[in-house]
Amino acid sequence: MQASPMHGESVTRGGPCYDRAKEAEEFHETKAGVKGLVDSGAAKVPRLFIHPPENLHDFSSGTDGAATSLEVPIIDMMGCRDSRRQDVVDELRRASETWGFFQIVNHGVPAAVMDGMLEAVTQFHEQPEGVKREWYSRDDAKKFRYYSNGDLFWSQAAAWRDTLLFDFSCGVPDPEEVPLLCREPVFKYEEHIEKLKRSLSELLSDALGLDSGYLGDLECMESKRIVGHYYPICPEPELTMGTINHSDATILTLLLQNNHGGLQVRHQNQWVDVSPVPGAILANIGDFMQLVSNDKFKSVEHRVLARRAGPWVSVACFLFPGGIRKSKPYGPIKELLDENHPPLYRQTSFADYLGYFHSRNGLNGESLLPHFRMMQTSPSPGEFITRRDTVYDRAKELREFDETKAGVKGLVDSGVAKIPRIFMHPPENLHGLSSNTNRACLQGPIIDLRDCRDSRRRDITDGIREASEAWGFFQIINHGIPLDVMDSMLEGVRKFHEQEVEVKKEVYSRDGMKRVRYFSNGDLFQSKAAAWRDSVLFDFQDGVLDPEAVPPICREAVFEYEKHMVRLKTSLSELFSEALGLGSYYLSGIECMKSETLTCHYYPACPEPELTLGTINHSDLSCLTLLLQDHHGGLQVLHENHWVDVVPVKGAILANIGDFMQLVTNDKFKSVEHRVLAGRVGPRVSVACFLSPGWTQKTKLFGPIKELLSENNPPIYKETSPLEYVTYYISHGLSGNSALPHFRMSDSK
Ligand SMILES: [Fe+2]
Ligand SMILES: [Fe+2]
Repeated sequence: MQASPMHGESVTRGGPCYDRAKEAEEFHETKAGVKGLVDSGAAKVPRLFIHPPENLHDFSSGTDGAATSLEVPIIDMMGCRDSRRQDVVDELRRASETWGFFQIVNHGVPAAVMDGMLEAVTQFHEQPEGVKREWYSRDDAKKFRYYSNGDLFWSQAAAWRDTLLFDFSCGVPDPEEVPLLCREPVFKYEEHIEKLKRSLSELLSDALGLDSGYLGDLECMESKRIVGHYYPICPEPELTMGTINHSDATILTLLLQNNHGGLQVRHQNQWVDVSPVPGAILANIGDFMQLVSNDKFKSVEHRVLARRAGPWVSVACFLFPGGIRKSKPYGPIKELLDENHPPLYRQTSFADYLGYFHSRNGLNGESLLPHFRMMQTSPSPGEFITRRDTVYDRAKELREFDETKAGVKGLVDSGVAKIPRIFMHPPENLHGLSSNTNRACLQGPIIDLRDCRDSRRRDITDGIREASEAWGFFQIINHGIPLDVMDSMLEGVRKFHEQEVEVKKEVYSRDGMKRVRYFSNGDLFQSKAAAWRDSVLFDFQDGVLDPEAVPPICREAVFEYEKHMVRLKTSLSELFSEALGLGSYYLSGIECMKSETLTCHYYPACPEPELTLGTINHSDLSCLTLLLQDHHGGLQVLHENHWVDVVPVKGAILANIGDFMQLVTNDKFKSVEHRVLAGRVGPRVSVACFLSPGWTQKTKLFGPIKELLSENNPPIYKETSPLEYVTYYISHGLSGNSALPHFRMSDSK
């Protein structure tokens, strides 16, 4: 978070916290786009543009053999009005069904018109910043505008490109609204594209087995938006993307590209390079065509790589039902439906379609189509869960899983040999899953509490300070909790989860007000992928819990263990206060870890542990978490960018710093990211005791502790209440991502 608002070096890289919103704002303010970054001599890609590994997946397709043998179909339109019509129609049908993508030659758009268009786009982007910034705008009402990354403020990572937009969606714009430099080339190009569109509309109608005028009458591709992309040379193309993978929300997109390449389409699960063919126009089927053709024609995923060579310039013309047809409902074409081809999609308007897109803050590459699919009709339990098919009704499967109230344990008991799709995690979650050898030498700190009341107190507070600063995590031994109390607790939890479903489902609930409840995946309906675990929770809040509310099978164990947790908490509260250089009773005084919640997890053995997680990586919202785990292992903490296995130490209690402690200590103590792997062997049982501000303090404001602040250590965080913090976390669906950056002061550091 640098102070300089200049582009170039304004952007920090690495570092656990950075203010993305601020950097996006600063980049936007330059109005110079990516071209401006390159011109300022940026030798590294700013953090804003760095993509997560999953976006960069399978990057160098063309070089590894398989993909190079595939070539996007080329369709020659010569003779399409007479002698070759049937051939052209057949080729179009095949290409639209199998690839959703093709190159067109002999399309009738003169080479000079295409060259003129590409040249105008290139020249516009290569003008002095001062000239083009006049046109920089994110106002969608403008018929002509220039900008970088239409989704800059909500995408996960920005793309390495700048864009010019000519909006013909409500007819031909007033020439005065278009800069002189581009005026003639774009109006000429549009005229020719209109002719090509009419031919293609007829040919595609024929290819669908409809009357030639069908798609024309449907008015589904009446609107045009012409978009001129400029992809500057990129110094680190392996870290970013020209355009993230996506499918177009159009009926059809027609694309003109210069000779630099970089475009790839996804075909049979491979990324295939689209080599530039001189004079060709590329066409790709969009989502809306897939919808009206009832899946006959396929909307194709594509992306653009950033390149060291360049600039790559392209001109995309999007054809869609916009303007006055924006709210007209479209559904699968009736003539394509019969008993064997029931409608797969419900009716929707283009406005609704885009509205859904914006309500989701963009999709970062996901298709919108599944949302508009009709519900399928077979809800048979057990087999209800589809796996790798391209479209599945996630919401429905989650509901069905939840309604079983049998949890993951229920799935395992029913004999599933494969994990259901809802539990399959995207590759980025599974990153670094298997242990690697250079990690084995790392061992988290162990704090021995023996004699902590006298001779060793100073050593212990020093140890806690070091561990909390460097790791945010440590194991505690000689903490005073008898081994049999810990064993009984683990045993009680295991027995609870292994009861008959009929018994435990009595307490199955997602009601956060219930202080005793059993559930599977607290964030089941919010998270991207479910975790392979069930939980039972005992919320002691400020210390009182009706014993009758706790299931008899684990009642005694829970209350006995809780009693010891309170004692340990009291000791640790003093030791942490001293480790911070505060009076021994400071932390208990501010009541930041007054309440205890015991969350007891059961991680059943998993048939495919490489596809899912026991718990996704996250940091805890609490001040401090005390964890008891059995001998199975699977817990990992992130330390110096490596996942480190926390090898179970018999009799130890694990402690980890939570977000709220990091906030009140003004970043002195670090909240640690951790996760639990799913395992082939199990069940793994663990008991987490979350120590957080008490229930009665949920609206009390907490900020960095004043005694820890000085001129050199100004407050990094704003004051916030536990309620506000948790609400922000939940409402932003963070599931794993820390909410701390949101509460940082914008001018800190
Ligand atoms: Fe696209
Ligand atoms: Fe945790």
